[in-house]
Amino acid sequence: MNKYYAGIFLFMVFIYAFYNREIYTEKADYGDFKLSEKALNGERLWLENNCNACHQLYGLGGYLGPDLTNVTSRPDKSDEYLKVMMISGIKSMPKFDFSPDQQDQILQFLKEVDRTGYYPTQNAVINYGGWVDYPQKVKNEK
Ligand code: HEC
Repeated sequence: MNKYYAGIFLFMVFIYAFYNREIYTEKADYGDFKLSEKALNGERLWLENNCNACHQLYGLGGYLGPDLTNVTSRPDKSDEYLKVMMISGIKSMPKFDFSPDQQDQILQFLKEVDRTGYYPTQNAVINYGGWVDYPQKVKNEK
């Protein structure tokens, strides 16, 4: 009898391990975007300076400033404009003391975030089962 239960137990452990492996190593649905070294430095500055307290990426963050998900592809926002915004301090946007290199890094971070998709997206489709398909700019790039 004990062997019988041990068999069931092992079977369940196997199912559990298999299920977890399938769920957590499946990349196809997410794409596998990788930030460049420069953008990673920009992300660090973004986090260290709490930009997210006022700005949002994909709608998540504080709401004092605008969402910056796609700001780098807006025709009215040049690279120079965006960099100047980071260091000049205007209205409730604080003045930051970033070197030109650091400005470039944050800009690169925002550019690479921008390439991951659109926010807000009007064209999301909710499928049976709850998965959502949405337009992506670059899918599964290596
Ligand atoms: C205390 C709140 C606050 C923090 C913190 C903050 N910002 Fe802002 N930011 C704003 C506001 C408000 C604006 C809009 C200013 C305006 O146009 O009047 C803005 C505007 C901007 C813009 C221009 C966006 C556009 O569409 O014109 C950029 C780029 C920007 N912020 C980047 C950053 C970065 C990078 C950081 C972190 C290093 C940061 N902000 C931290 C409040 C903040």
